[in-house]
Parts: sequence; C-alpha cells; structure tokens
Amino acid sequence: MTQPRQPGQVDPILAAGDEPASNPSSNAYFGDILAARMNRRTLLRGSLAAAVAGAMCTSLPFGRALAAGTPSVSSRIGFQAIPVSAADRVVVPEGYRAQTFIPWGTPISGPMPAATASDGAAQAHQIGSHHDGMHFFPLDGSSRDGLLMLNHEYVEPRLLHADAQGMALDSEGFPQHEDGSRDPNQVLKELNAHGISVVRVRQGDDGQWQVVEDERNRRITGLTPMRLAGPVAGTEHVVTKYSPDGNRIRGTLNNCSNGVTPWNTYLAAEENWSGYFANEDTEIDRRQARYGIQTRSEGRYQWHRAADGADEYMRFDATSRGASSSEDYRNEPHGFGYMVEIDPFDPQGTPVKRTHLGRFAHEGVIFAPAVEGQPIVCYSGDDARFEYIYKFVSARPYQAASADGSLLDEGTLYVAKFHEDGSGEWLALAPGENGLTPENGFADLADILVNARSAADHAGATKMDRPEWGAVDPATGQVYFTLTNNTRRSEEQRDAANPRAENHFGHIIRWREDGTHAAERFQWEIFLLAGDRESGRDLNGEPLDEDAILASPDGLWIDPDRRVWIQTDISESAVNAGVYAPFGNNQMLVADPDTGELRRFLTGPVGQEITGIAMTPDQRTLFVNVQHPGANTSAADFAEGRLTSHWPEGGNAIPRSATLVITREDGGIIGA
Ligand code: FEO
Ligand code: CA
Ligand code: CA
Ligand code: CA
Repeated sequence: MTQPRQPGQVDPILAAGDEPASNPSSNAYFGDILAARMNRRTLLRGSLAAAVAGAMCTSLPFGRALAAGTPSVSSRIGFQAIPVSAADRVVVPEGYRAQTFIPWGTPISGPMPAATASDGAAQAHQIGSHHDGMHFFPLDGSSRDGLLMLNHEYVEPRLLHADAQGMALDSEGFPQHEDGSRDPNQVLKELNAHGISVVRVRQGDDGQWQVVEDERNRRITGLTPMRLAGPVAGTEHVVTKYSPDGNRIRGTLNNCSNGVTPWNTYLAAEENWSGYFANEDTEIDRRQARYGIQTRSEGRYQWHRAADGADEYMRFDATSRGASSSEDYRNEPHGFGYMVEIDPFDPQGTPVKRTHLGRFAHEGVIFAPAVEGQPIVCYSGDDARFEYIYKFVSARPYQAASADGSLLDEGTLYVAKFHEDGSGEWLALAPGENGLTPENGFADLADILVNARSAADHAGATKMDRPEWGAVDPATGQVYFTLTNNTRRSEEQRDAANPRAENHFGHIIRWREDGTHAAERFQWEIFLLAGDRESGRDLNGEPLDEDAILASPDGLWIDPDRRVWIQTDISESAVNAGVYAPFGNNQMLVADPDTGELRRFLTGPVGQEITGIAMTPDQRTLFVNVQHPGANTSAADFAEGRLTSHWPEGGNAIPRSATLVITREDGGIIGA
C-alpha cells in the first residue's frame, strides 16, 4: 500500500521555489552607495518603467555606450520571428524543421533496454530525465557524426513510476509505503535517471539523426563512483564512511548547465543538490546551512528512507550518527556543489569533481578562449537569489599540447563586485586576501572553497538576481550572464547591476575585462532588461516589441557568427499566468550583440523550459533541450489523469523531456 506525500511534507527549501535563498550576509546591495542617486529618483520610485528610466539617466552604462555607430537593423539574424505560443507543441520559423530526439528512456548502452522497461537498473542504460546543458563532440571533425553529451537535472517521480499513476502527486511527489519508507527499485531508478548521458548520434542520408550503438555510450548517474580533486580533496571536510581518506564520492546530482574545456572534456554543474539531504542534527554548520540545509528529517525524494537500507541510499541522511565522520555521512553534502569533469572519449574514465572552482549552486561554467602560454579563465554563476558570479584563473599557463583537468586544481577563485559607475572588480577568495584569515574563520584554502558562499559574503561581493548561464563573445571577448529573476529584491536592495525591485522578468549583464580575461577589473553594462512591451528594454533602451518579449532568461550561448541565443525558464508554477501571461510557453530567441535586435526563434510545449544548446561545427544542426513538459499539472489533475502536456508523443502519453534537432529545409546555417 502506498500513499502520496502530503502537501505539508514538501521540502520547505524546494517549496519556496526552484532556487532557495539562503544568503544571510549583510553585504551591501549598493543601498548606501546609491543613496544620493536614489534621492533624486524618489519621485519615480515604485514604477518599473521609472526604475529603468532612472537607471538610464544615471551614469549606468546602458549598452549603446559600447555599441555606438553600429547599424540598427541586423544582418546577423535571417529568420522571420514567430509569435508567442501557449500550444502543446514546438514551433520554429518558416523554413526550419524540428525533429524530436532521445526522449527520456531511449536505450543507449548495455542490453539496450526498451523505454518501457521499468526496473531501476535498466534506467542506467537509458537516456535520463529532465534534459539540460548539452554539447556535441564531433568525431573526426564531422558535423554528421559525434558524441552528444547532456545533463539530466532532476526527476519527476510521478512520471517515472507506473505505480504513481492515479495518485494525488505534485511534481516533487512520489509513491511511498505507509511507514514512509520507499521502494528501493524506485529509488534506484530515480538516482539513475539523474546525471549525464554520453550518446553517439549520426545524421542519416535522409537528414534524420539517430542513436548509434557505441562503446563510448555511457550513463553517469547519482551512483557513479567519482574522484575529488583540488584543495578540498583529501581534507577532513569530505571524510565519509565510504571514503575515509576524503578522496572519493558516489554520484553527481542536479546537473544543470555545463561547460566545455579547452582540452575538449565536459563539465557538468551541480546546482540544487542541497535539497536531497536530510540532517537531524540540532546544529547545522555553515558548510550546510549557508547552502540551505536545515535541521530536517526529509530529503527531496526521501532516498535515505529506501526500505532496503542500502548504504548508497542511507548517505542522503547527513545526521551525525557515528562516533566520527568516517563512520557516517555527516560530510556527504560537502562532496556536492562542484563542477564535475568527464572525458566523453574515455568510457572507463572516472569523473572528477574540481573543487578549486568553488562549492555553490553551480549553474554551469563558461571558458574564455584559451591562449597559449596564458592562464585558463572560466566563469560560473551561483543560481540562487542574492548569490554571486565567480571566476577561476589557473596558476599554470595553458599549453595546448599538454593541457588537462589538473589546470583547474591550482589557481585563484574570484567573486565579482559590480560598482555603480559601470566598473567592477574581482575579489580573490584566497588565504589572507579580502579578510579571509583564520582570525575571521577561514582556516585555509580548502575551508574557503568548501565555504565559497561565506567567503564571498566576507569579501563583499555583489548579490545578484540569480546568475544562470554565461557566454563569451568569440570576437570581442565580452562576457555575458543571464540573471533570471528575483522577486524578493526590495526597493532598498536595488543596485546598478540589479536595477529592478521585485525583478519578475530578469536581465542580462555583460562586461569587458580590463586587459586579458585574467584581469582583476572590468567594465560592465546591462545588455537587456527582459519583460513585456511595457517593462522590457533592449540594448538601446527601447521597449521590446511583440517579436522580442521574454521573461526569465536562463540558457545563453553565443554561436561562431556571434548570434546570442537566449532560452527562457519561467517557473512551471507561474508560466502562462499573471504577469507572465503575455509570454506564453518558454521559448528561445536570438539577439544581435551589436545592434541589440532580438527575435523569437522557437516556442516550446506546455509546462516546460527550453534549456541546453549545442551546434555542429558546420552550424547546420542545432540541438536544444525541452525540460519538464507538463510539470505545471496540479496534483488533483494528475490524480484524475489530466496532464497539461502529452509532448512529444501526443494522445494520452506521459510527457517526456527530450532533445530537439533543428535543421533548415535548405540546409543553411541556423539563425542566418
Ligand atoms: Fe537549473 Fe538555475 O537552472
Ligand atoms: Ca537553468
Ligand atoms: Ca532557471
Ligand atoms: Ca526550472
């Protein structure tokens, strides 16, 4: 007998929205700095449009400053914009095709179990759930044959298990036994549906892409053995019963966006991992509290309540139960929150968590172009309300012939501070820098990195409106970041880089480093204020038209021709209603970085977000992910079998996350 999780049992962290806010620091929101300017704006205060106008008539550089003299009509964007859509289907511009590809459950390895196979072990040979960040690794430079690698951010157990049908479950809900324990086979399936897929894909002569059986096809899951590397590895922070020497950990979770290293490996981000852990200790230290773990007996999916008591499931209980940390899993959460490096070309390779890139809710990572003889530089956002943007600069220079992941194990982690005048600085999170001393509670480098959020608080970084993806312009070197939204920012907490209170719609910021990407200072500006026709503003400060309105920018990528691809993630709890009604379903647009022109390229089905983007080298095939269609189905409707989406199969089918393969009917370059 099973019964649904009661509404009151929902993890309070997750119930608050998809990204928990847990920054208690008193870092300035530029409130003091801006006080004088704010006084001048008093008459305008309270209106979003006025906030924009206010920002623009201060010294805030608003795009055009760097783009003066460029044409206002883009030659970079060649397609006809499509309208917003609330339909349960994918729409692309005229002249384009979208093929649905590798939905959750597609067999890729081992015995190639059919999508209908329901046992947990089969899921380790099938495409996972909730497709997210993605990259195409060409084989021998081919644009028609390669290894596609993609993240699977999380699962909806109600869609994953046949047993869940007919129960009153919300998108986080799952079947459980009367005593609160969980079926081990279901727990196994949920862990195996997380992680990363490596799958060989090839385009046939008919233009359709297909999965190819290959020894490199592989699933990396919430159970795959991994190695810790960098300053946190081998320290007391990560000693567990599984790894008394603190060098190993099982699995990666909540892999959101990704990155690709200059040496052609893949990095998967660990984003909202903290919700998976229970911890009944009465005192929770900052290594967990600052990441949203509170005293609680519940975890997101209650994996620690698997009925078989297997060690790999019990570790999600971080309560101090043994005599020391090598006898329990009090430190297990300290092994999550990293960027995980995986070599797609080495199917036996052990994934490596690169701890020097810091521990937080990594959305993803973006590398600046590598320059021979200079340090490697990469950027990563911490996606939660009022969190930060980070940068890592390697200690050793890049040498193409010998570069590998060890470059990420020595260097300096920085955090961004955005000044009101359009300048900015990178604050080093290193021993002795910016007050990070033992006297102030930061014992050494490992302590700083495992507590990256606390270190950034102490250094005085700028609290941002949920940093999501970054991108680097291949021609100018400018770095872009999406700031998806932050409805909790108050009037007093507004600052130049986060200029809107109750920021429902989000914005995109960009900066130019003062010198190389390793520089410690930069100049920034706002590239786009997302919103409807009233509140949205383009690079020129002009209102967005019907072809360009968008909310909650999240995925971001700049193609080799400098088209800026922007993907949206209005939460399933808010999409198509209230202030978000004008935007329809989540979508993807293209912007011109010089003119600021913005056009809608794709609209997705109901209840999903568009996320993850990859292109073949010839720019003739574009891969894009559709995550969590139907996630806005209420628990009551789910119990009645009424789902908001049946995409992609249609009819009465369970909705599935899947990849879209987009090509042009005339075989041309995508977006041109
Ligand atoms: Fe997984 Fe911040 O999106
Ligand atoms: Ca995202
Ligand atoms: Ca998001
Ligand atoms: Ca989401």
